[in-house]
Amino acid sequence: MENGIPTLSQSYPMSGGDGPHSYTRNSSYQKAALESAKAKIKEAILEKLDLENPNPKPDLNVYKIADFGCSVGPNTFDVIQNVVEAIKLKHQREGTKGGNNHKRLELEFHVFFNDQPDNDFNTLFKTLPHHYHDHGVFSCAVPGSFYSRLFPRNSLHVGHTSYTLHWLSRAPEDVSNRNSPAWNKNSIQCTNLVEEVTDAYYQQFKKDIGAFLEARAQELVPGGLMIILGQCLPDDVPMIRTWKGVVTDMIGDCLVDMAKSGITSVEKAESFNLPIYFPYFSELKGVIEQNRCFSVEIMEEVKHPMEEMTLSIGFIVSKYRAIFHGVIEEHFGDGVMDELFDRFSRKLAQCPIDFKECQKDMQFFISLQRIVD
Ligand SMILES: C[S@@+](CC[C@H](N)C(=O)[O-])C[C@H]1O[C@@H](n2cnc3c(N)ncnc32)[C@H](O)[C@@H]1O
Repeated sequence: MENGIPTLSQSYPMSGGDGPHSYTRNSSYQKAALESAKAKIKEAILEKLDLENPNPKPDLNVYKIADFGCSVGPNTFDVIQNVVEAIKLKHQREGTKGGNNHKRLELEFHVFFNDQPDNDFNTLFKTLPHHYHDHGVFSCAVPGSFYSRLFPRNSLHVGHTSYTLHWLSRAPEDVSNRNSPAWNKNSIQCTNLVEEVTDAYYQQFKKDIGAFLEARAQELVPGGLMIILGQCLPDDVPMIRTWKGVVTDMIGDCLVDMAKSGITSVEKAESFNLPIYFPYFSELKGVIEQNRCFSVEIMEEVKHPMEEMTLSIGFIVSKYRAIFHGVIEEHFGDGVMDELFDRFSRKLAQCPIDFKECQKDMQFFISLQRIVD
């Protein structure tokens, strides 16, 4: 949000439906990280969520929970289940203290699934767990960019977002500008090898995350929690030294090869830059701590359960196809995906990734509490 005007955000949905290339069937990597953070989310709610501020009146026992950038499921369903269970448990525990009657009332939950308007919400709602209503969980979609306001003031008790905030509202303009020192001539991502490119991406990231926090600060009730999970880089590890950096550059090489073969244009290949930035941990810490509306309750690394594994070519190709589907089709048009990911698969077979040689990225867990003004 800039001067009260919503920041324009481009939209690159994950691959929809439930077919072999869908995010639904190719998001086990993100799911594994969410599993490993489950206990932390529960703990953050048990220890920190303020039950008095969210529900000051005895007849208001409805908790409002939003998952920002929920995609198509099923990961978002596990997240919501976990948050609902944690709030119920907290109520049970606190309700037994001091004979507080209102805390014994049956709880109900209003769950908001947010993503960009062209996210496949149909698949999400078709696969919504049937037992939701029996457990007092009512849900709806909230389409729109999380870089601007999506909810009324003081209306949410818990916000959650996972594997989303590296998606910028747009790729920085200068990285596609031939006349700029930040022209990202040799890559489709921020490799962290060219200072001007890194800086352009970092400035955009800072602006975007600032807008995200500003919007959430208005929407969360005082004492409410914002939980953020995602991926960043240890301070001394440039993106290009991680296996994810290596495979992303390989996809860029395949696009250049396709341009050379006339399948797409050189101009298109050269002007393509992913609107993605993985900050260094200190950068992330800096922007989070700069905000004045939330207290930082937890900010720490979580181990990814698959970080020591050698991932198969099939796994890597499917994971990246599901994630990059929207952004690649938007730039190169329909009909390039099969060719691109066949080429990518062959390249990976010719030059296998040496996972032991690559440096590790970092998964982070952040719990923020809305300060009571
Ligand atoms: C990698 S998926 C993560 C999905 C899910 N949270 C998970 O952990 O499996 C990233 C999601 O963020 C969404 N996203 C990216 N930028 C967004 C924005 N500005 N507003 C809302 N959603 C956004 C994408 O559309 C996509 O569904």
